[in-house]
Amino acid sequence: MDSLSEKIKELRNEYSDSELLIEDLNKNPIMQFTNWLDSAIETKIYEPNAMVLATSFEGKPRSRYVLFKNIIEDKLIFYTHYESPKAQEILSNPNVSGIFYWAEIHRQVRFQGLAKKTNKKISDDYFATRPRGGQLSAWASNQSSVIDNREVITNKIEELEKNFSDNEIPRPEFWGGFEIQVNYWEFWQGRKNRTHDRFCYTQKPTGWEIERLSP
Ligand SMILES: Cc1cc2nc3c(=O)[nH]c(=O)nc-3n(C[C@H](O)[C@H](O)[C@H](O)COP(=O)(O)O)c2cc1C
Repeated sequence: MDSLSEKIKELRNEYSDSELLIEDLNKNPIMQFTNWLDSAIETKIYEPNAMVLATSFEGKPRSRYVLFKNIIEDKLIFYTHYESPKAQEILSNPNVSGIFYWAEIHRQVRFQGLAKKTNKKISDDYFATRPRGGQLSAWASNQSSVIDNREVITNKIEELEKNFSDNEIPRPEFWGGFEIQVNYWEFWQGRKNRTHDRFCYTQKPTGWEIERLSP
């Protein structure tokens, strides 16, 4: 760890000095988010739609990455196995928190909200666009269950491939989307000497309130 500690000590990145002012922000946080995501995509960041999603299990936080896939009626959509730990956690406590970090453009977006299953049509439509390999692995994997070896999955996929033959693969009932209704957003722009610009959007009965936060 000693040499690693030395290497970590040397990790001292400075951020560019791109100023973020309240008047630069879109009044609608979804628009602000999509503007920033678009910049991240244009910058060719690898998987700019990867977000850490935190849920809670018996009062203890748990997090993992998922891929943000769409915004439908102002809700953030991702897809997963409906019997996975994350899905079970959401079903027992819909409060979630998520975060994106786009290192190359020195930006972070954090949010909090309430998650629930999307309607079946949203899940069906998305599942139909997945490559066949992804469709088969959705069927084959009982996500996060303990398995003896890799062959458990690869053999199952082979068997499914034979069974489905050339037919269209339907979405399994146990796999689909979640939608997150966000009620709090935070936008972080890295600045020189750690004097970062941060703004939060809080949902009020009158609309979104935007405030500057100390770095
Ligand atoms: C970049 C990245 C993206 C991921 N996207 C998804 C996803 O969209 N849906 C999903 O179920 N798992 C995704 N995973 C896997 C999850 O992080 C996690 O391992 C899995 O869903 C099991 O989580 P759980 O046990 O908390 O339910 C992704 C992992 C990485 C590293």
